[in-house]
Formats: sequence, C-alpha cells, structure tokens
Amino acid sequence: MKVTVVGAGAVGASCAEYIAIKNFASEVVLLDIKEGFAEGKAMDLMQTASLNGFDTKITGATNDYSKTAGSDIAVITSGIPRKPGMTREELIGINAGIVKSVSESLVKHSPDVILIVVSNPMDTMTYLAHKVTGLPKNRIIGMGGALDSARFKYRLAEALEAPISDVDGMVIGGHSDKGMVPLTRLATRNSVPASEFLSEERLDEVLQATKVGGATLTGLLGTSAWYAPGAAVSGLVQAIACDQKKIFPCSTLLDGEYGLSDLCIGVPVVLGRNGIEKIVEINLSDAEKAAMQASAEGVKATNALI
Ligand code: LAC
Repeated sequence: MKVTVVGAGAVGASCAEYIAIKNFASEVVLLDIKEGFAEGKAMDLMQTASLNGFDTKITGATNDYSKTAGSDIAVITSGIPRKPGMTREELIGINAGIVKSVSESLVKHSPDVILIVVSNPMDTMTYLAHKVTGLPKNRIIGMGGALDSARFKYRLAEALEAPISDVDGMVIGGHSDKGMVPLTRLATRNSVPASEFLSEERLDEVLQATKVGGATLTGLLGTSAWYAPGAAVSGLVQAIACDQKKIFPCSTLLDGEYGLSDLCIGVPVVLGRNGIEKIVEINLSDAEKAAMQASAEGVKATNALI
C-alpha cells in the first residue's frame, strides 16, 4: 500500500506520522514545493520509526510527482491555511489553483489513485478535484466530517463529563463554521441518547462549540489545527487500505441523495478498498433537512467561485 501526502506542512506531516504509527502502509511519500522540506520531515519521521515501532517507509520529494507514481491513495493538504478571523471560504482564490494542479499531477502518475482532499474550502476543493480529474466519484473523498465529528465527540464528552470512548456522534453537512450539521438528536452515551443527560440548551452549546471548532483553534494557534486533521485523515486512509467498510461522514459528490445534486458535501459513507463504497442515507428530522439544505446552498455559492 503506497500513500502519497501532498503538502509537508503541519497537517501533511501529522497525516504521514499517524499513518506510519498505525503501521498498515508499506510506503508514505511526502511531497512539498519547498526545496528539501518534505525530505527533512520524512527523515525526521523515519528517525521515530525505531522509537514508535513502525515499518512504514517514509520518503520526501520536492515537487517531483514521478516519486508518487503508483500510489493507491493520495492526500491533498496543500494550499494556505486560514489565519485567525478568516473563514475557510476566503482561501479559495489561492487554493483552487493549487488543488487543480496537484490533482492533475497526482492522477497523471497514479491513474488508479483514490484522492482524499483536505485543502480548504474543502467541499469546493473536492468538487474541483472531480471537475479536473474526471475520476469516478467513489475515488474522490473530502475529509471534514471525520474531523468535525471528533470535535463533536470531544465537546459531548466534556458536557456529559464522560470519557470520550463512551460517546458517539456525527457531523454532516459542509465543512464550514456555518454549514456544519452536528446531529445532536442521534448523539449517544453508551447507546443512551445524549438528550437523556443534557438539556436542549446544553446540547445547543455543544453544537455551537463544534461548529466553530476549527476557528477556536485558529484563534489559539494563529494558524489552523493539525493533530486532529492528521488523525482524521489517517482514519480514512486506514479504512480504505484495510478494506474496513467503516462509516465516516465524508464529502462526496451527490446525485439526488439527501435531495441534493451536483455538489460535494458531508454525508455518511462506507469506506473500503474501493473508496466510497456506499452513500448511507439516514432519516433526518425536518430541522436537520433544513440545515442540510442551507449548508448545501452555502457550498454551492462557494463552488460558483471556481
Ligand atoms: C480545520 C481545518 C483542517 O477544521 O479545516 O482544522
């Protein structure tokens, strides 16, 4: 299993690190445009191999896509991250050009690749990757929902005063502060609805804190987060590489599912060796349907800018 990670910044390096630590991939290629940067990160990470007990071979390359040839999975993290006060949508001008050329170069050298798009505004970048590569829709996956759901579970555990392993919850919709749809109605603590333990007001606070999860970190860090994004990507990569058939909310091209078409937006999907093997349609409440509809309108407005 060969995995390429484009962009050796904080998110890309965290992806490579978590993929390697999980020890399921034979090879990870880290690629960056900055001379020597990916090579340096790869060497540093390889020097953790004996300490962390992994056998994955990590190599770095400066803008040489021939080194990525034959990748089974490629993760696109390249582009600029947001600064405090910025929305993900404001990154479109610079990131659209980068994601376009990166997707084309990846597919040229790895025609069978499954692409995972992380660059923001992620839902629009995933849609753009479809437009420029023409890959079948099961092979282009946008990573946002897995991260937003992890942030949701963090906030749920905090409110429930419970260990995170005791809580479950999912965020669908667009990967944006306004567009996320945390499904509080379906959140559980060890199979018991969270609403049995938390008031409607407290659940709404959890929902609001989840939606601004990335922005809160950007305010604290001065740039966007990397540990949880990297870990979320590694979960998707592992589900594909190991044919796990796990459900994750991912941004995928919809064709009538959830009453939506011609956009990529987060919905639950089954991930296996073929990428997105199934879009899972769950019954949403009227309020959740309205939130998805509004989220889709936001994503489409951003798509109109590419
Ligand atoms: C975040 C970025 C990766 O939410 O979109 O942290």
